[in-house]
Formats: sequence, structure tokens, C-alpha cells
Amino acid sequence: MTSLRWWQKAVFYQIYPRSFADANGDGIGDLEGIRRHLDYLQDLGVEAIWLCPHYPSPLVDWGYDVADYMNVAPEYGTLEDFRRLLEDAHRRNIRVILDLVLNHTSDQHPWFQESRSRRDHPKRDWYIWRDGKDGGPPNNWYSIFGGSAWEYDPRTGQYYYHFFFKEQPDLNWRNPAVKQAMFDVVRFWLDMGVDGFRLDAVGTIFEDPALPDQTAPMSYPEWLKAWNAATDEAERERLWRIRQEMFRYQEDLPEVHDLMRELRALVNAYGDVVLVGETEDLAYYGNGEDELHLVFNFPLMKAPRLTPAVVRANQRERLAGLPPGAWPCNTMGNHDVSRVLSRYGDGRHDREIARIAAALMLTLWGTPFLYYGEEIGMRDLILTDLSLFKDPLGRWWYTVERELFGTPHEEAVIRGARFGRDKCRTPMQWSRASNAGFCPPGVAPWLPVHPNYQEGVNVADQLEEPDSLLAFYRRLIRLRQRTPALLAGEYVPLAEDSEEALVFLRRLREDGSACLVAMNMSEGPAHVRLDLPTWGRCLFSTHRKEGAEEALRELRLAPFEITLMEPSPNDPGSLLSAGSRGSGDRAGSPPRRGSRRTSPPPPARPARPSRGSQGLTEPLRDPPGRGWTTCRCSRWRRCDPGPPGSLPASDGWPAGWPPTIHGDPVPPRRPAGGTAGWAPSPRPGALPASRPDPPWGPSSPGPPSGSSARPASRPPPGAEEGLPLRTSG
Ligand code: GLC
Ligand code: CA
Repeated sequence: MTSLRWWQKAVFYQIYPRSFADANGDGIGDLEGIRRHLDYLQDLGVEAIWLCPHYPSPLVDWGYDVADYMNVAPEYGTLEDFRRLLEDAHRRNIRVILDLVLNHTSDQHPWFQESRSRRDHPKRDWYIWRDGKDGGPPNNWYSIFGGSAWEYDPRTGQYYYHFFFKEQPDLNWRNPAVKQAMFDVVRFWLDMGVDGFRLDAVGTIFEDPALPDQTAPMSYPEWLKAWNAATDEAERERLWRIRQEMFRYQEDLPEVHDLMRELRALVNAYGDVVLVGETEDLAYYGNGEDELHLVFNFPLMKAPRLTPAVVRANQRERLAGLPPGAWPCNTMGNHDVSRVLSRYGDGRHDREIARIAAALMLTLWGTPFLYYGEEIGMRDLILTDLSLFKDPLGRWWYTVERELFGTPHEEAVIRGARFGRDKCRTPMQWSRASNAGFCPPGVAPWLPVHPNYQEGVNVADQLEEPDSLLAFYRRLIRLRQRTPALLAGEYVPLAEDSEEALVFLRRLREDGSACLVAMNMSEGPAHVRLDLPTWGRCLFSTHRKEGAEEALRELRLAPFEITLMEPSPNDPGSLLSAGSRGSGDRAGSPPRRGSRRTSPPPPARPARPSRGSQGLTEPLRDPPGRGWTTCRCSRWRRCDPGPPGSLPASDGWPAGWPPTIHGDPVPPRRPAGGTAGWAPSPRPGALPASRPDPPWGPSSPGPPSGSSARPASRPPPGAEEGLPLRTSG
């Protein structure tokens, strides 16, 4: 088999340190808690973990506001604890990659404290400081989290730039000293032995130094309102182009690719280190060897519906865009988006849907990134008490709902909770013990535990149960590890006209070995013609068919059946000519229903079902129906469109927005002259094409599509005084 690098073979597992396991009983996850669960991860088959930020932070953005890049947050432990975790992970062949936040620091970082202290401080130019214009900010750029991208600092009478919260000032990457300081951070951790980095918000590192005003035809609040009300795909496409226009001077500037090349050269000197970017833009692969090793397939994660056609189209497009030598990377969730089961579950076939999602991750070509808890079917927890919200984004959206859309308090809280990210960051559910075994009884976990841990959504119960989702993950990961075609084989779509079933080959040209993957993504039976003139032996099945042999002329799949088959090695020639690589190379188009066979069919032989030895499942007996891709209030699919809304009378932000989140003595400041003129008239000319996407970042979901826009109402009393976060409505 082609020799693969470790990060091409490994199943990655993302850990949100605060929520994984609390070893010292303070209700907050910590490094020691992670270390104590390495056996669990090893048994699961995980070979690499990505740690979300573990650095000291004032936690405005829950760690993505770093106050010291070369240390460990005290509540998570010490550098010594980190070394112990790294060593123990390595001893188990588990690599560790860290979250690297390059774009911005915390405003509490000493660099920024020095930078803001005086205009002539040597670190002044480490951040982006500018004079105001016409009594307001330097230009009309927005922060992706709302409000102006500029914060006035009365100490020195200038504005600083922040793409995210104002407590996250952007570093000035055009200053070589900044690059050197950050590269020292990279070396610090690589010298300690870490195996790579996930690059946070990589597209936001540079912005246009000329600071041209953006010329989107609407204001950001108007845009949010329209996005929120958009019901159809075409409208979302249109709005997405407007959003791209709005942020065009702040995102994905060409300079970032030079930086990526430098960073790649730096890490190459350390050997087999991996860089994965928080972006879906394939341009970050560079020429396939000189920028990032991995770029997330976020379009698949964000698909509003998961159907065979959607997956096939996604693979066709993504794989065709890969430069030579580049390696794909798939994920179904992370700390910024709804959990996969909350997104796609229909309440009736959740177990089956969770298996399909897992099977996609573990059988499609590319490195899979799992998000902690998905292997036991954890779900979003929607907080109904505003005072429990931790993520400022959730509070922000609550405010937007209240003050821009006039949503009643209770409903605004729910919408805020759905928009915010606390929902997918709740504590890992280890057992039926109180607090799900995350922290000791009697201790309040930092975020509430999802109560479904008492209903089998926990590790201990699922370890006991041979048919559990956890058992499914373990079994499939093991098969993946020992099946070269599943690791390295090219993706060849088959039966491309099937609406119910996704069928593809993973095929290794070198030795002709292959693995046929078939999943019925519908709740009815599926019948697909493959016209492969050979036999297959079942390697993996949701229906206890392991070992059974079947002619690959056609497949009959029970509802939600997943099967992996090893085609007979006796006829590799026929497989080599089957289908086409999902790379846009249409040379060998896939056999279609009724297409001519390239060689005679194998003699009819009845399939011989056999009972496998591993934990298997009962065949499913659900009645046929319309398919499981029905809306479950996913934020990408409107379930209660409500009445079409009108734009707010004022295009401004709620008074007092953005709120002061922690000890910043500077009161929130509205641009002088109000927001008039912030919604320039449409500019003729083509807008950059892109697909609908989240409004604030490459991996984050957009505003909840379930939200119904309503006419603006007067801001509630108190809003003018800057009290947008009141807990009662
Ligand atoms: C990335 C992170 C997100 C964070 C943002 C700002 O998108 O995934 O959690 O809020 O960057 O650092
Ligand atoms: Ca702790």
C-alpha cells in the first residue's frame, strides 16, 4: 500500500478540555481528566486528539482569547500536567495537536496591554491601531460577532481592529516581530513534542491595509435579519454573496498564503507534523504540498440535508478541487456547530442516522475528525435560562432577537441558545452516575449536563451493550485501520442514480484491492444495480451479514442498512474499470442502471448469510416512509418559517451593543454620527460566487433558519442604557 503519513491514517478526536473530564472536582474539565481517559480513547481506536485552547484566558470567547500562548490555564493544570498528558498519549500511539489562535490575542495579553499603553510603545504596531474618521471609526467594517470592527480606546485616542469580539484584538501580521513571536510559540510546543496544530480562523489573519469601506448593499443587522428570514436556497445564495462583499477586505486575503507557506516550512523542519486549517477553502492546500496538510470539508458538515445525492455532489466537487497530493479531511461536528444528531436526527431513527453519519466519516476518503461525545450520540442541550448562558454569541443573538426582531423573552432565550455554542459544549457523559461521571456528585459542572445521560447516552452503558453506537464506532474504526483500501483507496461513486442508497468503492489501484461501501440512507428498502461482474464478501454489516458472499450485480438493502464488502480479488480488472474517481475525471463513467456489462455476470449463487462474532444489530423493522432527512429544527433548514419579516426601521445595532463583557473600563461606543450611511447603495458588478455559509466564520453555522423574522419593535426599556443582557423579559 502507498505509504501513508500518520495523519492520513489516524482517526482524530476533538476534545473541548473544559468539558471532557474533571479530575480535581471543581466542575471544570482538565488535562489530568483527559489523561485518565486515554485508555478509553485508545480502545475507541483514536490515534490523534485535537485539544481546543488550553491556554490561560479570560474566557470571553472560552479560550479563543489567549492571554499566554506558552502556558496552561490554571484550571486545566500546569505545563507539567501537559507534558504528562503528551507522554502518556504518545505511549499509546495517540498524537496530540493544539489549537493555534493566530489572528488575535486576548485584550488581557501582555502584548496588547503594552500596545494600548501609549502610541510610541514598541508594541504599538503589534496590533492594528488607526485614527478615527469624521468623528467615527476608521471605516465601516463590521465585527463578525456584531457591531463595528473598531473599538475606540480613549487612553490613546485611537481605534483598534477586531474581527471577533472587542476583547479579541487582531494582531498585525504585517509586522515581522509579530510573526517571529508567534513562530516562537509554534516552536515552543513542537519542541515539547506536540504533533501539529489546528489553525483557528485562518482566513482572518490579514485585512486590507488601505482600509477601504466595504460596499455591501445592506448593513450587517439588515443582512442578519434577511438571512434569518430567507426561505429558499437562491435567496441564501444571494445573501451569501452580499456577506462575502461585506467582509471582502477582512477575509482570505492573498497574503495569508505566503504566511501558510512559511509556517509549513517551519513545521516541516520538525518532521511529521500536521497543520489543519479552520477553513473549507481548498486554496489553503497550496500546491498540495506547500501550505496546509488538511482543510476541513465543512460543506458536508453544513449540508442541510444528508442524502446520497448531497454526499455524491459534495465528493465530486471537493475531490475535483484538490491539488495533486492533497488529502481530504471530513468532519460532522465541532465546538461551534450543532451536534450531528441534533442536526440530522428525526426522533424516530436516531440510532440509524447516527450510524450513517459515523459510517460516512469512517469510510469516505480522507482523515476523519470526530467531536467528543458523538460516538455515544450526545445531543445539543438548549438552555432555557439566560443566566446559564456562557457563550457570548448566544447572549448576542438573544439581544438581536429582542431588540431587532422584537421576539418575546422566552422565545428569544431559546433562539439565543440555538444560535450560541453552549449547546454543543456540555460535559462528556461518562456514566449514569450523577453529573454523568464528568465531575463528582454535589459539584456544579461549568455547563449543565444533558439529562439524557440517564437514558443510555453515556459511555459506561454503551460499553456494556453490543449494539450500542459506541460499539458501532469501535468496530468500524477497527475495520478501517486494517483495510488499506479504506484508508488509501480512491473514491469511486457507483449507482449514482440511487436516491436512497449511497454506494461507492474505495479502490487501491496498486494492488487492485477494494472495499465496496453501501449505505441505505432512507427508511425504506433500497435496491441498487451495480453491474459489477464479481462477488463480494461482507466485512461489516448493520444486519449481521459478516462473512456472507453476494454477487455484486445488485444490492438489496434494508432500511438504513450499512454494508461494507470486499470484492473478490479474482477479478480486479473489472473493478479497476468500474466507476470514475470522484475527481471530476469522467473518463470511466460509473455503471448506471441498465448499462452494459463489461464482462459476463458471475453465476447465480444464493447469498450465504453468516452470523458474525462481533456485536451486531438486529435487522431494522421500521415501516417505509419518506426518508429521514426531515427537519429537526436544524439551523440550516427552516421548520417554522413564520410570517415574512420586514427590515427594522433602524439599521443600527441595539443601543449599548456590543456589551462590556469583562473588566474593560471603556464604555461601549457608538460611531459618531450614528449608523446613517452604513448601508451604501448597491454597487454594480459581479459578486464573488460562493455557497451559503455561516455569517461569521468558516465552520460556524448561520443564524438559526428556524427563526422567523418579525417586524422591528421598539427596543425594550433599559436597552438604551446598555442593558441588553437582562435575564428577564
Ligand atoms: C474559531 C473558533 C471559534 C472562535 C473563533 C474566534 O472560529 O472555532 O470558537 O469563537 O474562531 O477565535
Ligand atoms: Ca477540574
